[in-house]
Amino acid sequence: MTSDILNEIINLKKEKNAVILAHYYAPDEIQSVADYVGDSFYLARLAENIPEDLIVFCGVGFMAESVKIINPEKTVLVPDISADCAMAHMASVEKIKKLRKEYDDLAVVCYINSTADLKCHSDICVTSSNAVKIVKNLPNKNIFFIPDKNLGGYVAEQVPEKNIILNDGYCPIHAALTVDDLKKTIEEHPMAKVLTHPECEREILELSDYIGSTADILKYASESEYGEFIICTEDGVGYPLKKNNPDKKFYFAGEQFKCMDMKLNTPEKLLHVLKTGENEIKVSKTKREKALLPLKRMLESAK
Ligand code: 13P
Ligand code: SF4
Repeated sequence: MTSDILNEIINLKKEKNAVILAHYYAPDEIQSVADYVGDSFYLARLAENIPEDLIVFCGVGFMAESVKIINPEKTVLVPDISADCAMAHMASVEKIKKLRKEYDDLAVVCYINSTADLKCHSDICVTSSNAVKIVKNLPNKNIFFIPDKNLGGYVAEQVPEKNIILNDGYCPIHAALTVDDLKKTIEEHPMAKVLTHPECEREILELSDYIGSTADILKYASESEYGEFIICTEDGVGYPLKKNNPDKKFYFAGEQFKCMDMKLNTPEKLLHVLKTGENEIKVSKTKREKALLPLKRMLESAK
């Protein structure tokens, strides 16, 4: 039974002095046993100061990899090594090199949803919760924003004084939400406020009342005086939304909002890695040292 597995996870975690980190998109049961649950930025920042030596990270590859890069002394395990973010691979080092030749003052701004290889060639990382602030504060006029064209486009609108060159990557889950689907959900719930992750397409953002990271969406919903919300992001956020706001109503726009990679984090697999120590994240020293720079710059500039 799942509850037996969850109890075993809790006991074993204590016995092994392990800590469980989970993203808001992880399945409900995983969020319920995690020590810390948050958005990408919160989890990256947390990685700097974790005292436990064993971290089990329930998210996707780039998130666990970032934790290992930020805190290389720790052992980082993942329940399923194949849990990956499709968008993390949607940019090319060749394109970065080409643009660096074209623009003297180019800053390569890398959404944390990217491979360590891409981070190695970038100047600064951002997440959806700090991208606008960080780009605004950069001294550079010319910015190459990788990999997400949707988050990049949103930042470009918020920071019109910069020349933001967009890349053609995107999140297949967020980009799949159609205007028709959202309009239909709005028609069904006309009083609801629309809260949207900036990985959605521009036309979706235009129909939204609020745009923000998963943590921002949670904060907005909790602080709002409104009682009904249409959510345009992955359905894992439904768990904390309902837990924190039992009297409010949440409807997900469209039916595609499941990141199947996030859902690979099952209690059975989490228990297995706690028992066996399998699925350890490894990053070579050279890659780690290079990829750490843009991550460190992000952590510094967001302070
Ligand atoms: P956050 O930056 O809100 O954690 O989102 C991460 C992500 O993968 C969105 O699809
Ligand atoms: Fe990547 Fe999209 Fe899944 Fe987020 S929801 S982890 S961007 S594939």
